Amino acid sequence: MTLPIRIAPSILAADFAKLGQEVIDVVQAGADWVHLDVMDGHFVPNISFGPDVIKSLRPHTDAFFDCHLMIAPADPFLEAFAKAGCDSITVHAESGPHLHRSLQTIRSLGKKVGVTLNPATSLSALENVLDDVDLILIMSVNPGFGGQKFVPAMLDKIRATKSLIGDRPIEIEVDGGITADTIGAASAAGANVFVAGSAIYKGDGIDAYRRNIEALRTAASSAR
Ligand code: DX5
Ligand code: ZN
Repeated sequence: MTLPIRIAPSILAADFAKLGQEVIDVVQAGADWVHLDVMDGHFVPNISFGPDVIKSLRPHTDAFFDCHLMIAPADPFLEAFAKAGCDSITVHAESGPHLHRSLQTIRSLGKKVGVTLNPATSLSALENVLDDVDLILIMSVNPGFGGQKFVPAMLDKIRATKSLIGDRPIEIEVDGGITADTIGAASAAGANVFVAGSAIYKGDGIDAYRRNIEALRTAASSAR
């Protein structure tokens, strides 16, 4: 099943001093989803923002809020992220011992259910939860920081994900090191949702963001 190409800017690369405007601008510039990278300084070696920041962004746009939790444990916070207005919530398979329970909790909160894997984690971690997810996020860098280099070995993992899901309508998202140079290969391998931070939030404001998003979309579409 071929799902639409979606460009999902990560606000991790935005100017946090004017975050509301940065979200409005990137949506106006053509973003399909807004990617929210939540980091706890424990599961990953960096701290970003939590549910209160997302809650304060929510009234500024109707755009789909795609929340990527890099926190452990995640379960005690799922309800807070749901209430903050996230549309999807993605947890790391490595973040706790009871992945299936975490996914069921997200489902019971009425949100799209996502699961993600660090580069070193085998896809086999997901074999038994395929019917419980709407989205599989393949990390193409080690999570924690923007601006890292795409790990090329993740292209095989995207291809394997595509074949593993069969005809289930699961979104395949890729996150980390996505630029106009790397997005084509990720698209050809089978991903349809593309997170990009530094490749979108560069240049000055909405016109630059629009050009950056268009360049990514064009490269992803023409590689299909
Ligand atoms: C990494 C985050 C990514 C990151 C992407 O932990 O999950 O979303 O911000 O940033 P770029 O596009 O700069 O690699
Ligand atoms: Zn992310």
